[in-house]
Amino acid sequence: MRNSKSWYSISCFIGFVLLLSACNDADTEVEGGSNGESETEGEETVIAGDAEQVFRLTHTTPESHMWHQAAVHFGDILAERSDGRFGLEIYPAGQLGTEADMLQQIESGSIDFGFITAAEMSSREEAFSAWFAPYLFDTILEANEARESNEASAILNTLDSSNMIGLDYLFAGQRMMLSRDVKIEGPDDMSGLTLRVTPSPPMLQFYNSLGASTEGIPLPEVYSAAQTGVIDGMDMDLDATITNNFYEVVDYAAVTNHMVWPAVAVMNDALFDGLSDEDQQIVIDALDEAADFSAETRYEQEEEFKEQLRGEGMDVYDIDQTPFESEIAEFDEEYSAIDSLIEDFITAFR
Ligand code: BEZ
Repeated sequence: MRNSKSWYSISCFIGFVLLLSACNDADTEVEGGSNGESETEGEETVIAGDAEQVFRLTHTTPESHMWHQAAVHFGDILAERSDGRFGLEIYPAGQLGTEADMLQQIESGSIDFGFITAAEMSSREEAFSAWFAPYLFDTILEANEARESNEASAILNTLDSSNMIGLDYLFAGQRMMLSRDVKIEGPDDMSGLTLRVTPSPPMLQFYNSLGASTEGIPLPEVYSAAQTGVIDGMDMDLDATITNNFYEVVDYAAVTNHMVWPAVAVMNDALFDGLSDEDQQIVIDALDEAADFSAETRYEQEEEFKEQLRGEGMDVYDIDQTPFESEIAEFDEEYSAIDSLIEDFITAFR
């Protein structure tokens, strides 16, 4: 898992250049102290910027998305619990590059923390695919409880041989199916459709088993792909449908809630190891509270978000798992055979 020395140096250099350019682009005003006030100016959000140690965190979603709000919550708690010694700079919306770039920056130490999709993590460590077992959890509150389990921790521990540590999971909405012209009510409607799926092997596998053609398009390119008809629809969550204005380019939203959607909170491991036991605990507790905030807030917003999309003219409807039973069984069998951590996870929560 560790990179060669030269590749590591190149990564460090690229990370440094991207970070420098983001810092220059953003007209950042720093505010706060131990009261955890934050301010967003330009493109980054700074919490307690005059603290002794200001950590840097990056993620891929816009500032209106739940993961950004969770990051702000994390920063506020860090500042408060450390009596103002810790602050946080947040670089949202993929401004430091793709998630793969972010992981390199975290490993090289040019960025301290990332909230990285489990989808991206599943391309690094297959065990993260366990979270994408279809219909494993009815709600994100159930998934949020599962994040405390030994099975979920064992998946985080697969990162031990890298230069980062996996600390926690944060949930935004579950996945659903958006489409432009064809109302999806089951697998029969999906053959012949080209659907955008996050480029993650387990997610692509599920859609292919349903008979759809898939395009693995990263989030920032999805709007134009739908607008220009490159895709007929997409796998998405409610939050991202609203925060990326996808209701402007698709008409139907099948609220399948077929997969949960965790971000993995990762940190540069040397930085974590260099903290005192007490400060490590502050980081762990702050993430834990940010994760609960994220799942609970997002759970309460479900109906409100559906209504909001209806108000934008979308046909928003619920589908349960009945039409997808055989594909669920297929997924469990195939992925359980790949990795015992996935098998343990599915066995514990199915
Ligand atoms: C996506 O790739 O679909 C996605 C990524 C981050 C947050 C929400 C959605």
